[in-house]
Amino acid sequence: MIISGNFFYRGRIIDCAVEIEDGLIVDISKNKRGKRLKGIVMPAGIDVHVHFRDFKESYKETIETGSLSALYGGVCLVVDQPNTNPPITDEKVYFERMRKAERSTYIDYSLNLGLIEENSEKIKNIIEKIEEKYYIPAIGEVFLKNAMMVSYETLERVRKSTSKIITVHAEDPKEEDDVLAEVKAVERCLKIGNFHFCHISTSKALNMIYESNSTSEVTPHHILHSREKIDFRVNPPLKSNEERIMLFKNFQKADILASDHAPHTIEEKKEGKPGFPGVEVVYPIFFYMAKKGEISLNELVKKFSKNPAKIFNLSRYGEIEVGKYANFVVFDPSDERRIRSDDLHSKVGWTIYEGFMAIFPREVYIRGEKVLEDGDVLVDKGFGEVL
Ligand code: DOR
Repeated sequence: MIISGNFFYRGRIIDCAVEIEDGLIVDISKNKRGKRLKGIVMPAGIDVHVHFRDFKESYKETIETGSLSALYGGVCLVVDQPNTNPPITDEKVYFERMRKAERSTYIDYSLNLGLIEENSEKIKNIIEKIEEKYYIPAIGEVFLKNAMMVSYETLERVRKSTSKIITVHAEDPKEEDDVLAEVKAVERCLKIGNFHFCHISTSKALNMIYESNSTSEVTPHHILHSREKIDFRVNPPLKSNEERIMLFKNFQKADILASDHAPHTIEEKKEGKPGFPGVEVVYPIFFYMAKKGEISLNELVKKFSKNPAKIFNLSRYGEIEVGKYANFVVFDPSDERRIRSDDLHSKVGWTIYEGFMAIFPREVYIRGEKVLEDGDVLVDKGFGEVL
């Protein structure tokens, strides 16, 4: 199969033809011709930080509804987080969850392994058992605070015992001030070794990570919302508008953009549960921002496709390139519209981006197969592969 169009290729948009065999790109050329796509063809998104819930929290999201929401947002692969109920802290629950994902995911799916004090001595052994069958992108997100809390000492011991990537939720448990909590936790972790730092919300911490061999992730909500505007809870908390602007000014220094899609029902939000859904709107909002010149398209692709694949060793993903999966999204740049929660697909039915301008993908291709077109999903659940 050959597809022609304006493809985002090696940092710029070129008019070319992409030849696909068995889901993989086998040739990119200016001399061939195939069915022509309208619009701009971008590498599909990779969201390395989602909480798809399921299990005992199916009332607020499932792998099925979460992955459907991701698909509408132009995401071809997610990394799900292990703080489910029950949590993913041994091979038994990991296998159970992957079997569930096999039956229910619309897009490609992978899952991190949780670290808690209780499994920390056995973590290498658990990884070995799981990796006979599945690929674990990372250990984490490791919480330094909350119910799954791990001490710095345990984190250090585990860091020294495995070469696996460890993703850290960097909030110091003893520090009350939320800016200092992040800065202190990052400072302490950088002394221990290399980590991937989830949802960094302060420019100071971002700069410290930038100067190190560790990697960082930022979220749309810490870039687009400040605590003056919205009082919904999230961890790490939304910062002041001044801090938000500083973070955005340093956006270029972040390695990854990820949603931290963390759905809760409206009732739970009233009780103070932290987190927001977001996997469906990252690419649409940021593609719109790229169109308006607020960020570059190249930065967006790096942070939402290329770097996630590179950092988490997802070797067939992340670029439109020979040898990679034919995972594309097609945007029509003139198709601007406002986000309405009624149009989104997460089970919770609300968004903190109501009214934001966005450009949603018109078509999505996964491994060469058209999976979404003009708002219609063309495959069944279970189409996605688990890693
Ligand atoms: O606000 C958050 N909610 N931060 C996290 O790290 C976890 C997430 C959740 O699972 O709800």
